[in-house]
Amino acid sequence: STIALLFGGRSGEHGISCVTAGGILGAIDRERYDVVAIGITRQGRWLHVSDDPADWQLHGETPPEVPADGDEVLLPAVTKTPGAPVPLRVVRDGRVEPLAEVDAVLPLLHGPYGEDGTVQGALDLLDIPYVGSGVLASATCMDKTATKAALDAAGIASAPSISVHEDEWAQRTEEVTGSVRERLAPPWFVKPARAGSSLGVSKVTDPAELEHAVKTAFAEDPLILIEQGVAGREVECGVLQGRGGDAPRTTEPGEVIVGDDLDFYDYESKYFGKGTVSIQVPAALPDGAAERVREVAARAFTALRLEGLGRVDVFVTETGEVVVNEVNTMPGFTPSSMFPVLWENMGMDYTSLISDLLEQART
Ligand code: DAL
Ligand code: MG
Repeated sequence: STIALLFGGRSGEHGISCVTAGGILGAIDRERYDVVAIGITRQGRWLHVSDDPADWQLHGETPPEVPADGDEVLLPAVTKTPGAPVPLRVVRDGRVEPLAEVDAVLPLLHGPYGEDGTVQGALDLLDIPYVGSGVLASATCMDKTATKAALDAAGIASAPSISVHEDEWAQRTEEVTGSVRERLAPPWFVKPARAGSSLGVSKVTDPAELEHAVKTAFAEDPLILIEQGVAGREVECGVLQGRGGDAPRTTEPGEVIVGDDLDFYDYESKYFGKGTVSIQVPAALPDGAAERVREVAARAFTALRLEGLGRVDVFVTETGEVVVNEVNTMPGFTPSSMFPVLWENMGMDYTSLISDLLEQART
């Protein structure tokens, strides 16, 4: 079948999405799948781009980027022929030509305008099958305030927090600061409500730094949250779910071990080797903790109505409590990213993992 890989996009995680695509382009089973590479520019144009994995690698600290110009992909008008392949066209040298008949889309997009339900909604309207969660789960998981509300309703623990909009902050800075001090024990994590890869996130140990941290988060999103830091180990769990009501399958958890030279697992330490970080798969957790993490991950996956895949990030506290940090509907997906490494540890290699996902593209 023919698969369109969709990557890049309008979010701050544009480059990370390209690196993910590079990994997949290098490993996808080309005997089984024809691939069309569609890059979304930072401005939001959909272009037919190179499907050579070498063009989408990380070079030092410069992530690859979809060029701003190129051959524009034309989506069909709204169709109502479920099951039929979707004809895509492309504008080359001013002429409209057929590009491919696509059976499914693999949206490898991280962050807003991609992992947040917007692209999923567009694909739904066009009756194009795609891999992963639909509109609601994508939107819920992209917004950390909505994620917490949904987890709360399902009786799943997450860190206490206060959310604040930019306008409210401008009008009532003192009041908001007061309730943060009163209700949340420091350190605080200040986060944009809708961003990924720790973009715009700061750790605040000295209340005098709150103002600066809040401004940093507002640069990413007018809605932010101030969260009480959870003292615990940072553990991640992969989840896959086939179609037709199969129970979610979870991985042995992995641990992110952050050295003393880092404040927390931030953007630079995630991708550019800043500080000491090691990934341990499987995590060496106390008796029973791994099972609890897996159980919470499966419950969160179901409660938030994820489909296909997800990575549930949690803290395991000293008393063994599992507190959900966040849920990613399209986790980083290079061969060395946590999600594929977690599945590798379960006996599923990278290429098989990709095929597994493509087989369950939702229709
Ligand atoms: N948002 C990044 C890509 C992740 O969670 O893996
Ligand atoms: Mg994340």
